[in-house]
Amino acid sequence: MNANLRAVVRAAWERGLAVCGIERGYAGLIDGRIQELGPRSVSGILNRGGTILRTARCEAFLTPEGRARAAQVLAAQRIDGLVVCGGDGSFRGALALHREHGVAVAGTPGTIDNDLCGTDHTIGFDTAVGTAVEACDKLRDTADSHDRIFVVEVMGRQAGFIALETAVAAGAEAVLVPELPEWGLDRCVASIAAARERGKTSMLVVVAEGAASAAEVAAAVRERIPGTHVRETVLGHVLRGGSPSADDRVLATRTGAEAVEALLEGDLAHHIGVVANRLVRTPLTEVLAGRKPLNEELLRLVDTMAS
Ligand code: F6P
Repeated sequence: MNANLRAVVRAAWERGLAVCGIERGYAGLIDGRIQELGPRSVSGILNRGGTILRTARCEAFLTPEGRARAAQVLAAQRIDGLVVCGGDGSFRGALALHREHGVAVAGTPGTIDNDLCGTDHTIGFDTAVGTAVEACDKLRDTADSHDRIFVVEVMGRQAGFIALETAVAAGAEAVLVPELPEWGLDRCVASIAAARERGKTSMLVVVAEGAASAAEVAAAVRERIPGTHVRETVLGHVLRGGSPSADDRVLATRTGAEAVEALLEGDLAHHIGVVANRLVRTPLTEVLAGRKPLNEELLRLVDTMAS
């Protein structure tokens, strides 16, 4: 998110625009917590996780009154365009602000979950997967040395993108994702049992938080396959922090700069993504209505590679 902020500020500055940063998302907008930003204000943040503007969940913005207040603040500050970096909740708010009060908005894909249409990857996803894979590699050392099965739970809300990429990159024996219940607990336990039959003594299972908890999966494996030594690890918010990967920095920089162009060209209420390495502007309505499919080829690969 910092890399995205830096890109918006510097691209806008280059185009002769004044730029402000809104602290703590929509909550700060309603409260008028707005600071002027220039190229120097965003120095040294490209490699920093999180956001220097901070962020917050905001109940008030879900109400028409809250959005009316936000529109008043924007008008009073003479702000002509708003770039919103976030996920579908943030975009729903941006779209409502646009429809109800005519505010010019642009969205950039800021979520580790990767669950947004209109972009191959979201900002933070690559970093989150990198962190999860590093953790899995470390857990594998104990798994191998002690003949254990590790169940690793990763974030992703109702999406399995982080889990699936992590499973392939870490060489997991099984993965559970919410999108495809047929690849659920029963199949996972059956895969583990079959792998034991083939002589595997240690294994890694990656579970998306939207599919099941690590504790549930671990309990099922213990109960249904006697003699297994199972441990569970919840990676949780660890995946949301840390210095962003090079891919994430590039994605954040490209989409941030393009958001400024979209606003200047009058492409309002659009989402800026990168598809097949090309910048793409998609109406926010389409992004919100769509559902990004999980790559089933990757799912099958987990099985094949577990042989
Ligand atoms: O949407 C990003 C995300 O990190 C999800 O993966 C996770 O379920 C959620 O946010 C956690 O939210 P909170 O920090 O509010 O618990």
